[in-house]
Amino acid sequence: MNFNEAKKLLEERKQAQVLEGFANLSKEEQDTLLDQIEKIDWDTIDLVQGETIVKPSIGKIEPLAAVDIKEIEARKEEFDKAGLEALSQGKVAALLLAGGMGTRLGSDKPKGELNVGLTKEIYIFQRHIECLQKVSELCGKTVPLYIMTSEKNDEETQRFFKEKNYFGYPEEDVKFFQQEMAVAVDYNGKILREEPGRLATSPNGNGGWFSSLANAGLVSDMKKRGVEWINLFAVDNVLQKICDPAFVGATLLSGKESGSKVVRKVDAHEKMGVLCKEDGKPSIVEYYEMSDEMAEARNADGELTYAFGVILNYLFKVEKLEEIVATKLPVHVVEKKIPYINDKFEVVKPEEPNGYKFEYLVVDMIRLLDDTLPYEVVRESEFAPIKNLHGVDSLDSARELLQKNGVEL
Ligand code: UTP
Repeated sequence: MNFNEAKKLLEERKQAQVLEGFANLSKEEQDTLLDQIEKIDWDTIDLVQGETIVKPSIGKIEPLAAVDIKEIEARKEEFDKAGLEALSQGKVAALLLAGGMGTRLGSDKPKGELNVGLTKEIYIFQRHIECLQKVSELCGKTVPLYIMTSEKNDEETQRFFKEKNYFGYPEEDVKFFQQEMAVAVDYNGKILREEPGRLATSPNGNGGWFSSLANAGLVSDMKKRGVEWINLFAVDNVLQKICDPAFVGATLLSGKESGSKVVRKVDAHEKMGVLCKEDGKPSIVEYYEMSDEMAEARNADGELTYAFGVILNYLFKVEKLEEIVATKLPVHVVEKKIPYINDKFEVVKPEEPNGYKFEYLVVDMIRLLDDTLPYEVVRESEFAPIKNLHGVDSLDSARELLQKNGVEL
């Protein structure tokens, strides 16, 4: 895109401010800016219409039963056997979502580089690798690992893995790819710049991972290896089991196209997405979308009707993902603190939210699938997410849970 094309487009979109001071930029900065303008996803920006934010609507919600812990215990042998067989045939890959900014943690480094150890070094990335090493040993085949990073943390993440020698994992079985970025706007929908020659961008959420994986040529890589299933997981849960044979086996035996690990909510208003049915299909309703009535509903036995929260550990069938990859996910508009340059070209780092970022979320992928198997796991032994340094879902609470599970810190 050249300057005149960009100018015309931005004027039509009432975003002409983006090109102010363009003549004073270096050639390299000009090219970067024009390239960014060409890639703007206008579907996102169009959602901010003055003070109105267009929100995705919710359909008819009903509960969805899970394979619960009791049933899993009773069928453990059967599930393990089926899972290990698939793993030993190389049919399952692990995919780590590590493109997030981890803003709540307040560190500049990728979240996976956080040391959870107290007397020795135990990095979050290391925990995941060690978990995969155990599974690989058990099934006699190395599980390939794909890691999604973003423009903001890719270099550092790859440097860290090299420095740590991949924690002993075979380097040829670890592949990195980058997710897409989205521009940020102020409360009036005006695109912000983080530098005179750069739009303010941030990773566009964890929902676009499959198209990014495909764009990087890695779906072909998976197919060459005979991978049929992907176990997607978040970076921040330091207790999770990745490529857990019983989970893999239960999903495969269920004949469904995906599996979702869930835990029982600790209380009606816990801040987690709940797995249920929406218009007859599996769906995840976020806690902030739930009415009090829905959150507090109970069955005759006193249990919460919408009891199962997702922990961002899913199993997806590659074939099905290829079918839905072109389907657009809804965009979530999130209020954030966004550093920007003001009209004097000074960088401002706001203390309070000053605009919106746009995100596609993996939870919305569930809605596109025909069915999923909700698979309950023991919360205290599989769920220790690190979102904050202290308090709920924090480094402190995760350390406590790790110790309770016999991990020496
Ligand atoms: P969170 O929603 O907790 O976001 O991510 P975050 O970036 O880690 O933390 P905050 O909200 O800024 O404090 C859940 C998972 O999705 C990944 C994260 O890396 C984490 O594994 N993620 C999130 C991405 O891969 N890309 C994104 O754009 C956002």
